[in-house]
Amino acid sequence: IKRIGVLTSGGDAPGMNAAIRSIVRTGLNNKLEMFGIYDGYLGLYENRIIQLKYSNVSNMINRGGTFLGSARFPEFHNHNIRTIAIKNIKNLKIDALIIIGGDGSYLGAKKITELGIPCISLPGTIDNDIFGTDYTIGYFTALETIIEAIDRLRDTSLSHQRISIVEVMGRFCGDLTLSAAIAGGCEFIVLPNMIFKKELLLKEIQIAIKKGKKHAIIAITECICDVEQLAKYIEYNTNRETRATILGHIQRGGAPVAYDRILASKMGNYAISKILKGYGGQCIGIKNEKIIHYDIDVATKNKKKKFQYNLLKIAKELY
Ligand code: F6P
Repeated sequence: IKRIGVLTSGGDAPGMNAAIRSIVRTGLNNKLEMFGIYDGYLGLYENRIIQLKYSNVSNMINRGGTFLGSARFPEFHNHNIRTIAIKNIKNLKIDALIIIGGDGSYLGAKKITELGIPCISLPGTIDNDIFGTDYTIGYFTALETIIEAIDRLRDTSLSHQRISIVEVMGRFCGDLTLSAAIAGGCEFIVLPNMIFKKELLLKEIQIAIKKGKKHAIIAITECICDVEQLAKYIEYNTNRETRATILGHIQRGGAPVAYDRILASKMGNYAISKILKGYGGQCIGIKNEKIIHYDIDVATKNKKKKFQYNLLKIAKELY
């Protein structure tokens, strides 16, 4: 192994730059030549690849987003497109790839490995939805951003005695919502793992109002319902002003927190060591604070991460 390429794919996540930096510097310090691919699999297909030197990753550890750019490129499922991408890799004599992204990008890594270029994937997503790893790069930064937003919402919701609904990202994973709700002291939580009935939520709120609650924050994961409609429904039935806030892409930006920087640095460093040992088709994770590697199939075939019922129980006991 002499030349390694790195790309970021899917939704950007804080800490991706720290991961690229770790991969590039570990590679260079091991006398490898390092290459960066712009805009994920799209750039691989379009042959937008540059050589990366030590200074390309200077002043990157603290920067949000990904300086290589990222893209969602579902066309990569197409065999002909992948064949062109492989040709581009081979023309540059790149021996292996490291791919940082969500579970969607893991499938691409698996396919490229099957076509003869060993790939290692790093979990880069705020959603924390990848099976086999306790945490993903970007999760803790997004969590801090969400908690800050909830704290701000609490100020205004308290001042106006309103009900505030806050919609949190995570796609089909409730980790961000649940943890943010605990840390932000939210009174009500709606997660993808629960059966959602607006009537039941309303009943809970009405009971709380009867007990004297003047304001409340409801944390809800995206993709469950239309939160604007939910706000109208709650306001109509409780006679309490209710506002919905969709945090949106604010949650994806910003400088990574220390944990994400360190996690990214450890995982990037570990990925190079695995590639040098001849591994491919593997992904990196963290379990009980230990960096691990496992088959990409394990991550992609187990769509659902274990739900943290214990955490939900704690949240419910804190209302
Ligand atoms: O996977 C990260 C994520 O931010 C999800 O939480 C969200 O559902 C999705 O990406 C949004 O994707 P896009 O930025 O393509 O709109």
